[in-house]
Amino acid sequence: MESIGVAMTTPMFTYLEQQLERRFNLFKLWNHPLDSHFLQENAQSIRAVVGCTKSGADACLIDSFPALEIVATFSVGLDKIDLPKCMEKGIRVVNTPDVLTDDVADAAIGLAMAVSRRISESDRFVRSGSWTKDRFGLATRFNGKSVGILGLGRIGSAIAKRAEAFGCLIGYSARSEKHHSGYKYFPSVLDLAANSQILFVSCALTEETRHIVNREVINALGPNGILINVGRGAHVDESELVSALLEGRLGGAGLDVFENEPHVPEQLFELGNVVLLPHVGTDTIETSIAMANLVISNLEAHFRNEPLITPVI
Ligand code: DGY
Repeated sequence: MESIGVAMTTPMFTYLEQQLERRFNLFKLWNHPLDSHFLQENAQSIRAVVGCTKSGADACLIDSFPALEIVATFSVGLDKIDLPKCMEKGIRVVNTPDVLTDDVADAAIGLAMAVSRRISESDRFVRSGSWTKDRFGLATRFNGKSVGILGLGRIGSAIAKRAEAFGCLIGYSARSEKHHSGYKYFPSVLDLAANSQILFVSCALTEETRHIVNREVINALGPNGILINVGRGAHVDESELVSALLEGRLGGAGLDVFENEPHVPEQLFELGNVVLLPHVGTDTIETSIAMANLVISNLEAHFRNEPLITPVI
C-alpha cells in the first residue's frame, strides 16, 4: 500500500502519523500549502484523507483531490466533515466510535465532580499558599443529584451508568425514547433542565442540536444548576452561558469544548465555579492508540476491498 497517497490534515497524534507513514505515502498537509504546484504533483495520488475535530474535510478539500475514495476522522464527531459532499461524490467516511466512550464519560464525571466539589478552585487556593477552613464556602455534593443527559447514545449511556453508581437520578432527552433504558425520558429539553441539578451534554452536533442549550434551558437549570459539556461547543449558546455565569443565573459549568476552539471566552477565566479543559475528553494514551488503530484498520480494509470496520457512509 506504500504507493497509496494519504493526506493528513493537521498534526493529531504522533503514533498515528508513524503508523500511516509505515503503510502509505503520507502527505502532511500542514507542511504543504494546497497550491496549484502541490495539487498538480500529488492530487491524483491522494486516495484518503485523515482529519480530526481540529481540521476535517470540507467541500474545498474534498474537491481538491479528484481520486479521493475515503475520509477517516480521528474522532467520533463528524461535524468537521462535509457529509453531503462525500455522499454526492461516493466517498466513504469512517470515524472512531466505541473505543473512546468510556474515557469521554470519565471526563464528564470528572468535570461534574470538579465543579460540584470545587476541586480545581481548591487546588488553585492551596497553590496560592492559602489554607483555611472557612476559605470560600462549602462545596455541593455530586452523589445523589438529579442528572439530566442530552443524548442517550454511547457516551450519554456511559455517563448515565457512572452517575447511577453515584446514586444519581437519571433523566434524558433524545431524538426518541429509549424504552429499555430505565431512565426518565423528557421529550422537552427545557423540562429536562428544569428537573436536573446537573445537565450533561453528550449528543451529536447537528443543525437540530446547535444551541440546544439556549438562554431558556440555562435559566431552567438555574442558579444552583451545573452544566457539563463534553459534546461540542456549538451545542451551547456560549455568549448566553457566559452571561448566565457572570450574572449568577447558573451555578457552575464544566466545559471540555467551546464554540470557536481554540478560543475560550476570557470572562470565564476569573470564575471559580467553572472548570475549563482544552477538548481532551478522549486524550488518554489507551484511547488515542485505539482510535489510531481503528483509523488504520479502516483504511487497510478499504484498500483491500474488505468491509469497513466503523463505516459512517
Ligand atoms: C471526538 O472524538 O469527537 C472527540 O470530541 C475528540 O475529539
